[in-house]
Amino acid sequence: MTIRHFITTQDCSRAEIDALLAQAAEFKRSPRGAQLAGRSIALLFFNPSMRTRTSFELGAFQLGGHAIVLAPGKDAWPIEFEVGSVMDGDTEEHIAEVARVLSRYVDLIAVRAFPKFQDWAVDRQDTVIKAFARYATVPVINMETITHPCQELAHALALKEHLGDLQNRKYVLTWTYHPKPLNTAVANSALLIATRMGMDVTLLCPTPDYVLDERYMAFGRQNAEENGGSLKVSHDIEEAYAGADVIYAKSWGALPFFGRWEQEKPIREASKHFIVDEAKMALTNNGLFSHCLPLRRNIKATDAVMDSPACIAIDEAENRLHVQKAVMASLLGAGV
Ligand code: CP
Repeated sequence: MTIRHFITTQDCSRAEIDALLAQAAEFKRSPRGAQLAGRSIALLFFNPSMRTRTSFELGAFQLGGHAIVLAPGKDAWPIEFEVGSVMDGDTEEHIAEVARVLSRYVDLIAVRAFPKFQDWAVDRQDTVIKAFARYATVPVINMETITHPCQELAHALALKEHLGDLQNRKYVLTWTYHPKPLNTAVANSALLIATRMGMDVTLLCPTPDYVLDERYMAFGRQNAEENGGSLKVSHDIEEAYAGADVIYAKSWGALPFFGRWEQEKPIREASKHFIVDEAKMALTNNGLFSHCLPLRRNIKATDAVMDSPACIAIDEAENRLHVQKAVMASLLGAGV
């Protein structure tokens, strides 16, 4: 792998993504190794996690390495990211020191930092992970910021395991209701990886307010063109589900309403019928269903869908372990 960091799959060529997936499949067949022997990774969580933390810690362990988990502002000092800041507030140290000190201790730094959900123009700059990448002298891995590239790889691996060749398979990324406005990261990432795999992608959402950031829509169109797939937006549930090979569900907040969520709430509340249920899945081409998890049952998808053979969400979650081992090993030049 020639890239220095793993922040977005858009920095990787299709060949590099395919190589990571092949390496992950190899780790799935043969989980233990010495690719990280004597090496270490710092996992910095600015937000909660179950899957990401567990799979990174175990992945490092299974390859002979060691993971250290830090939660800045909780069990580690709160970090300042503003350049030139007069630090007379709550932050105790600057990213310029944090990233460089950690780089003296560990071989990899992984970061989870969600948007603050107040101003999308600020959040879309992805300041936290970019600051780590700027100051760190070791590779930086994105554990979910405004995209979720590790989830992308796990999703792609699960789809390939179940469908084989993904070229021109009909893929629907459907918005679903959630009582809170959630991060667009997984939705952005679903568009990136599905178009990168050459799938025919439909973004299904209640209104144009829920179309994703133009940066990711543009990457999706570019990926589709380069890989022989397509990307379109639909607000018609039946049309989108008809003949679909894959239904991928995610809830997210509408970007025009960032910081004004009380105004978005009525639109979201009126769109609960986007729930993934048996009737909608019956319209598909015996399609697969997945979600990145965590998922609120009977809000985003029904029990019947979650417990059906079509649901591959558990496979996708397992694959986080394998793909992250591939990413860590590759960044350290210790691939299979
Ligand atoms: N899908 C995912 O990233 O799960 P966690 O939030 O539990 O890490």
